[in-house]
This record gives sequence, structure tokens and C-alpha cells, in this order.
Amino acid sequence: MTHVIKTFDEYRQAWKKSVEDPEGFWAEQAETFQWHKKWDKVLEWNFQDPDVKWFINGKLNITENALDRHLDTRGDKVAILWEPNDPNAMVREYTYRELYHEVNKMANALKAKGIGKGDRVCFYMPMVPELAIGVLATARIGAIHSVVFAGFSAQALADRINDSDCKMVITSDYNHRGAKNIPVKKIVDDALEMGCPTIKTVIVHKNTGDDIAWNEGLDVWWHEVMEGQPDTCPAEVMDAEDPLFILYTSGSTGKPKGVLHTIGGYMVYAEYSFRNVFQYEDGDTYWCTADVGWITGHTYIIYGPLLAGAKTMMFEGVPTYPDAGRFWQVCEKHQVNQFYTAPTAIRALMAQGDEWVEGYDLSSIKVLGSVGEPINEEAWNWYNEVVGKKNAPIADTWWQTETGGILITTLPGVTDQKPTYACYPLPGVQPILVDAEGNELEGNNVEGLLCMKFPWPSILRTTWGDHERCRSTYFSMYDGLYFTGDGAKRDADGRYRIIGRVDDVINVSGHRMGTAEVENAINEHENVIESAVVGYPHNIKGQGIYAYVITDHNVSDLDKFAKELRAVVTREIGPIAKPDRIQVVSGLPKTRSGKIMRRILRKVAAHDLDSLGDTSTLLNPEVVEEIIEGSEKPV
Ligand code: WT7
Repeated sequence: MTHVIKTFDEYRQAWKKSVEDPEGFWAEQAETFQWHKKWDKVLEWNFQDPDVKWFINGKLNITENALDRHLDTRGDKVAILWEPNDPNAMVREYTYRELYHEVNKMANALKAKGIGKGDRVCFYMPMVPELAIGVLATARIGAIHSVVFAGFSAQALADRINDSDCKMVITSDYNHRGAKNIPVKKIVDDALEMGCPTIKTVIVHKNTGDDIAWNEGLDVWWHEVMEGQPDTCPAEVMDAEDPLFILYTSGSTGKPKGVLHTIGGYMVYAEYSFRNVFQYEDGDTYWCTADVGWITGHTYIIYGPLLAGAKTMMFEGVPTYPDAGRFWQVCEKHQVNQFYTAPTAIRALMAQGDEWVEGYDLSSIKVLGSVGEPINEEAWNWYNEVVGKKNAPIADTWWQTETGGILITTLPGVTDQKPTYACYPLPGVQPILVDAEGNELEGNNVEGLLCMKFPWPSILRTTWGDHERCRSTYFSMYDGLYFTGDGAKRDADGRYRIIGRVDDVINVSGHRMGTAEVENAINEHENVIESAVVGYPHNIKGQGIYAYVITDHNVSDLDKFAKELRAVVTREIGPIAKPDRIQVVSGLPKTRSGKIMRRILRKVAAHDLDSLGDTSTLLNPEVVEEIIEGSEKPV
């Protein structure tokens, strides 16, 4: 394993070198991998088009680096440790050699089903090892994976399949989720029924074994396509800038967009950031509780750990099944050394009481990680004291689907830590804060909009099928900068604190959602005339979803209407987008040019009425009083 930063001084030097000589810095990291052909040039970039290329003309396959490369040195060590939903069901382990053979077999199976280089393969699956195997098999043959979180609705799945013209869906019969079984295959069937003309095959992994409907000619069982496949498959030699995966994420406008990551830069950054952020040492057991349906699962369950030769745990279940001690029971059972989860889970478990933690021996934990949303001080302290016994430094890791890997974080045990501060940029990362006009805010003790002025290897390259959208969303706001959408503060010592989104994106239980997307779903209800959705502070979820809705005259039973509205949103997007609060209003506060004044709606939803500001310039100031009154009892 290559060098890991161990001291604050080393961190400072590495960061300095990465800024003074980024090409030299990243070439050195890239050298540690296996390439069919080395790059001609490390980096070419501009943030105007934008056009970013790392390791130009380098040829490689990421799975050779995550699997083949480890066979001699750690072939018999565990690569994936799988903990099932049911605590009494059997744990599964795959050594690097076993994983290598499974991936190769699946790669051959995909080829046999007509998948080739550049084709898109959609995954809609539970957290089982087959998901990781399928994803890696896709990468092995040069195809592009698009994993869709299995909590999204059939409609949302169909939209994502069609946006990138996937040829195949890989799914399971059912998902185990706590006490429930979720019929995922049925959801895939429903999606295909809505019209997904490019899908030629559905591979179904038998998970629960319960009955499912079968589409002859389309569906095939995972175990049947795998049967008899040779357990080696030559890796497709790819260009460093060939696509690796698409992952859909929400923005402030329109439909979710397919963020595209390419192979070489993503590989180098995933491995580098994993090793350094988690201070992973040989023999450790690392556990990230995220779902592979999100970027955290891509980079820090599958790619980062496997590229680094680590033992990565995959957990099928939920934090509260069979009870609120499950995370800690699993940590004890597998002697977890690095534990990485989201603030929403921390807050939910904190609310259940310390007794759920106290019965378990958590002394194996060396590093705690947090990701997905700002962690409030109370949750940070609880994590530090009750879970970590003040013995396990916390890495508050800030990053995004678009960044591919962690950009700003504490290096646990290396850099200092401060509650609610993500702290310092990793080497290779050059954050800057700007004001609304894009002027750089220099010096410390400043607050502004968080941008990046230089590319790191795993920056997104485009949004699938719509490069202009990528440009206008991230690179047009401030010339020559990547705009993150977050506001941040820099303290006297240069640490960063992420304040939250400054655009119309909300973060509900660590799930990113566009308010426009939820509004579009709400507007599908036949009695809805117009709606506006905002986030409001929520004790457990971080933000809750507050919907203001204008209805026609046919709504008499409000409770029934609210129920229907939630069902519509569940149908259009999924249960994670269901509004927590719905308020029927006669109008929405608008500017004279007809724009909804969301600022007012956010303040009312947060019961923050003292600073509403001047409402007299509104087109319809009278509506504000009504909205304030109605906010006392939303449905
Ligand atoms: C948005 C990105 C990165 C993986 C999971 C979320 C928020 C993320 C932090 C953090 C404060 C955070 C930001 C960011 N966020 N991590 N440590 N502190 N905020 O990925 O779905 O692409 O969402 O999540 O607002 O922009 P994502």
C-alpha cells in the first residue's frame, strides 16, 4: 500500500505540492496503478466549455486495478464482507480471488447477453454482493453502469433508464428492508410497462425466492446467465477518459441529470481519498452504511476500498431493524475499525437513547465518518462521546455526486477537528469563497459561496446527453470556477464550515432533492393549480419538505387530499420525496415579474417570522398574512 498522510505537517506539504505542481502530484499517485499504456500528458482543462481531461491517452481497466492487481498480494483476504438484513441470516464473504472470479463470470454473462463497450446497464437492486459484482462486471467489459437507488418509483426508474438509453436492467426479485420485503422486480416491470424501448434484457437475482411475474423473452435469472460462464474474462482496455458510470442527481431545475464520471481520474482520486481520509491500515474492517444507489456507495463502498485492497462491508439492512442497536451490534460483531454514516442516522439513533449503544463493545472503532449534510453540534458531540468514547476522531466529509470523491474533510488523527466544520481541503483541492458577484473573498473569517478554482481528478466531465446543462449548472455562474451550490464559512485558521445549499436543492435525510422536481410531481394531482416546495429545519431529517399548494374548488376533504398528494409524489419520485407538511393556500407570494418569493415561504415554514423582510413590493402582499396564519396547522 502506498503512503498515507500521517501528520499535519505532511498534510500541509502534500497540499502545497498538489497546488504548485498538480500534474507531478497526481502523476505520482497514478504511477501506483496498473496501466496498459501510461498517459502522454497528465492534465488539460478549461472551466469554460467545460473540458477536463486527466491522464490523457492512458489506457487501463479499473477492475484490473481493483481486483487482478491484488491477487498475488492479497488474493485470499476478504474483499467484501456482507451483513444481511436479518441478523440471524448467514454472513457472506468474498475474498479478492473469489470476487475476481465472480466478476469475470458476470462479465462473460453480460457479453453473452449482448452488452459491449459503451452500452448502458441500469441497476435497481438491494444491497447484496451481486450489486457490486454486477457493477464491476459492467466496468470490466467497458460498459457504463447507471445505478438507480431502489427506493425510487417506477416512473423515476423509467425516466432514468430512458434518459441514458439503457440496454439492460439488473434487479432482484425482492429487497429485504427491515421487517418488509420490497417488490423491486415488480417495480422494474411497471417501469418497463411505461415504455423503455431500449431495454432488451432484465437479469433477476434471486434474493428472497418469493414469487414474481415473469416476462418470457425478456427476463433471465442471474444464476442461469452465470451458469457455465468461464471465470476469467479479459478486461476491455479503456481510455482514461472513457465513461465509467452515470449517476442521476437532482438540481435546482428540471429533471434529475446524469452526472458522468470517467475512468482514470475517478480511479486515482477514489483510492487516494479513501486511504487518506479513513486512515485505512491492512487488516482493518471498514464499513460505510450508505446505499450503492448514491455516490457514497459507489466511491466508498465499492471503488475506493477495493482499489486500495481493503475489506469493505456491505450492509443490506436499516439502522433500526430489528432494533435501534443494529449498527452497534454489527460494529461489535465484525470488529469494525472505520465507520462511515450520515448525520440523519446519527440523529435518529441519538433520539432513541444511549442505552442502545452502551451494551456493545465498540473499542475496535478507530475512525468515525460523517457525510451527506451538515452535522449539527449536538449530533457531532454524541457521535464523538457515546459512539467514539472520545477515542475515535470524526471525519466530517464534504463532497457531492459531481465531485466523485471527498473534497473537504478532517483527516482523522492527522489534522485537528472542530465540531460542525468539515475543515480542510484534501491535497489537489483548491476551494475558494466568492460573493454574489463572484469576487473572491480573501483572507480568513469570511463567508460566501463555495467554488473550486482548479480541477481534481474525479470532477464530473459532463451531464449525460446535455453538455450545455453541465456548463450552465456548474461552470457559468462564476467565470472560470466550478460552483458547488453550497454556502460556506472559513474560520480564522482556514477551516471550512459548510452551511448548506444556496440554490433550490434541499437535503432530506441526506437525500438530495430538487424543489422543482417535487413541485412537478405535486402538480400531477388533478386538483392542484400551482405549488411551491421549500425545505424547513427538521430534527431528524435535517430538512423536511414543506409544500404550499393552490387547489381548484373541488377539494373539500383536506386529509384525503393530502393523502392523495403524498401518493402522487410517491408514484412520481418515491417515498423519500413525500412532503412532510402540506399547506393549502389561495396564492403564492410573487414579485411583480411573477417570480415566487421562496425566501418568504422558507421563513414561514421555519416559523422564522421576525425577519420576513419587506413584503410590500410583492404583487400580492395580502397573501403573506394568510400564509402565516395557515402555517399554524399544515396537514
Ligand atoms: C450535497 C451533495 C457526498 C455524498 C452524499 C451527498 C451536502 C454533503 C456534506 C457535509 C455539509 C454536506 C452539500 C452538498 N453535503 N456532505 N459533510 N457537510 N453538507 O451527495 O447527494 O450529491 O449531495 O450534500 O449540500 O452540495 P449529494
